[in-house]
Formats: sequence, C-alpha cells, structure tokens
Amino acid sequence: MDIRALFDLTGKTAIVTGASKGIGKAIALGLAQAGAQVVVSSRNQEAVDEVATELRTAGHRAQGIACHVGDKDQLASLVQQTNGHFGPVDILVNNAATNPFFGPIEELDMGAFQKTMNINLEAAILLSNLVYPQMKASGEGSIIHISSIEGIHASALFSAYNVSKAALIMLTKNQAAEWGKDKVRVNVICPGFVKTKLSKMLWSNENVHNRLIEKIPLGRMAEPEEMAGLAVFLASKASSYMTGSTLVQDGGLLNGPIL
Ligand SMILES: NC(=O)c1ccc[n+]([C@@H]2O[C@H](COP(=O)([O-])OP(=O)(O)OC[C@H]3O[C@@H](n4cnc5c(N)ncnc54)[C@H](OP(=O)(O)O)[C@@H]3O)[C@@H](O)[C@H]2O)c1
Repeated sequence: MDIRALFDLTGKTAIVTGASKGIGKAIALGLAQAGAQVVVSSRNQEAVDEVATELRTAGHRAQGIACHVGDKDQLASLVQQTNGHFGPVDILVNNAATNPFFGPIEELDMGAFQKTMNINLEAAILLSNLVYPQMKASGEGSIIHISSIEGIHASALFSAYNVSKAALIMLTKNQAAEWGKDKVRVNVICPGFVKTKLSKMLWSNENVHNRLIEKIPLGRMAEPEEMAGLAVFLASKASSYMTGSTLVQDGGLLNGPIL
C-alpha cells in the first residue's frame, strides 16, 4: 500500500458549490492540489472565473461555472457543463449555504425559512440526484455535504439555519444507506466557527469574538484552509470504507466543558 496514492485524485472530476470564497474556495484548491479537475461554482461568474484562473495559474485544471443552487435549471446546466468540460462527476461538495434570518423560532419568517431550506437542503438533494447516476455508472463516487456544528447543537440565534443543517446530516445517512450498493459514498462535515464572510458577525466585533473563543478549547476560530484536508480525505480512496459519517471539525467546541 502507498499511503500517498490513497489521497491522489488525479483524473477525478469535482464540483464545489459556493467556491468563490471561504470554505468552498479552500476545498476547491485542496481537491485541485490533490489532482482533481475542479469546477468552481457560485452565483457570480466573475468571482468563480477569478478562482478558476488562480487554480489554473498554479498548474491545476479548473473551470468556473456560475450556478444559483436555488434554481433547478441552473443545477442541471451546472452538471451538463461540467460533463462537457471534464466528463462524469466523481466528487460533489455541496457547500453553498445561506442564513437570511437571525432570531428565535417564534419570530421566524416563513419566507426566510423556505429560502434557507431551499438553498441549504433542497439544492443538496437535487444536485446529488443529478450526479448519482453518473457516479453509479462509473462504479464509485463521493458526495460531501457541508453542514455545521449548528446542525448538532441548539442555538437561540440561527433557528432555520440549524434546522437545515441538521436535516443535511440525516440526508447524508439516508443517501449513504441507499447508495452504498453502488459504491457511492456520502459523508458530512460539520465545521465549527470558521473566519469567513458568513461568520463575520462573530469575528468583526471584538467582544463577541472574545466571548466565543473563550468557549473553544483550541482558543480560536478556524481558517477556511483548515477545512480542506478532511474534504480531500472524504473525496479520496483514503476514506473508501467510510459512508454515512458525520465529521466534526470545531476546535473541540462541542466537547468543551459545561463548567
Ligand atoms: N463560516 C463558518 O463559521 C461556518 C461554520 C459551519 C458551517 N459553515 C458552512 O460552510 C459552508 C461555506 O460557508 P462559508 O463560511 O465559507 O461562507 P462564505 O464565505 O460566505 O461563502 C459562501 C459561498 O456560497 C456562495 N453562495 C451563496 N449563496 C449561493 C447560492 N444561492 N448559490 C450558489 N452559491 C451561493 C457564495 O458565493 P456567491 O456570493 O458568489 O454566490 C460563496 O462562494 C456553508 O455551508 C456554511 O453553512 C460555515
């Protein structure tokens, strides 16, 4: 056995949604460095072109394709265009997410709830269903959902977001149970607090930031790049016996002492 070969993604085609910045961009770069040809996707063509150019300049194969994951036609077109550039999809990272509402459940606006479920959950189901037949035909595939520790523990702030992220964890388990027979593996990553645009309210205010990091055993928020290694592992043969798993990367936060 060559342990380095287990992580090699040469010749594999990956789609990463929400890859114009933050965690998605870091994962796209990680997959490309491991050898995959990567489709970098988000709503903004200019932004994904910029990331794809960055990857190509570094010697990797990459293509930027705009796709609003809340739009079914755009999801189908994303897969079709990916096939045109790089062939069948081997790796799908459902990373794009939104969080339009902060507050308690009794004040939750149902429009915001629908939007959250549509972008964070329904899109992951639809895109998985679009790539699954290709993975089945290839005889293997890896789908990676990006959930959150907010899908595991309660919070007074992120009501709809938490519900959508919890649902992604069960989606992972059901897909893994249904698709294991076809060697299509499905796993979910639950990041803790990562310094990105989405989490800006947690790190841009010094008081909020200090109160937060006090609770994290590693004493800091994560950088987006720290989420890439686990995604490469889950995409690769190194995790060939892993499916339906929920993997937490949170600096020890969920395991922190209550007192
Ligand atoms: N940051 C954290 O602390 C944290 C913690 C746990 C989990 N997560 C999860 O990690 C994932 C990435 O979050 P992040 O923190 O990296 O966020 P981010 O830096 O704000 O990036 C979000 C990405 O999603 C894209 N996006 C947003 N809405 C989209 C849509 N409707 N269709 C397609 N792309 C869309 C954005 O690009 P455009 O604007 O160009 O479309 C951007 O590329 C999310 O699933 C999030 O829930 C984050």
